[in-house]
Amino acid sequence: MVITGDLVDFGTAEEYQTLWQILRRLQLPFYLMPGNHDDRQALRDAFPDHAYLQRGATLNWQLTVNGVKLLALDSSVPQQPWGYVDEEQLNWLAEALLHEPKLPTLVMLHHPPFASGIDHMDRQRLRNPDALAAVINQHPQVERVLCGHLHRSMQMRFAGTLACSAPGVSHQVAFDLQSDGPAHFVLEPPGFLLHRWHPRQGMTTHQCAIGSYSGPWPFYDKNGLID
Ligand SMILES: [Fe+2]
Repeated sequence: MVITGDLVDFGTAEEYQTLWQILRRLQLPFYLMPGNHDDRQALRDAFPDHAYLQRGATLNWQLTVNGVKLLALDSSVPQQPWGYVDEEQLNWLAEALLHEPKLPTLVMLHHPPFASGIDHMDRQRLRNPDALAAVINQHPQVERVLCGHLHRSMQMRFAGTLACSAPGVSHQVAFDLQSDGPAHFVLEPPGFLLHRWHPRQGMTTHQCAIGSYSGPWPFYDKNGLID
């Protein structure tokens, strides 16, 4: 499981302790990325056993899981809501992509490199999407560019691949496409994205709801279709 940033609200040590208490109950390995609400050093301090967080000025990391390569780019800018990836990070990304061109790859960053149409969020998206696209475009093994930040599920064609934002695991950003719409959130159902990789069938992205819902109910009984 990868959490694409905004792990806490204000970047305090107390908040990261609470996060640690929650995540330690998980039954699967998890990896963390910073968003605009995070503080890099406080995050590192709270998860000292996450060695991949302990290197460099920015928190980029890479990992291969079951034949799928994960490349995490730290798009956070201290004290700013918008995102940026600098030249050093883009070079790191290009090198990682050149190194293993045959592995299906997910490139992940907190800030969306595309416009959502939700005005107050678009003012704080990635500031240099073209520079990122110039790298991604050259590497067709990139199956997805994944981001958080938007607290809504969206898909858009980007740099010859598909960019997707994950829904929020708490609130969602209110769906409002008016220019200058207010910065509001709503308590629509939380969710996450699940990316299924199959060597012959490719990458399928599922949006999954978090919570308890009625069912599952059968479509069929012994007499055939029920409804
Ligand atoms: Fe964010």
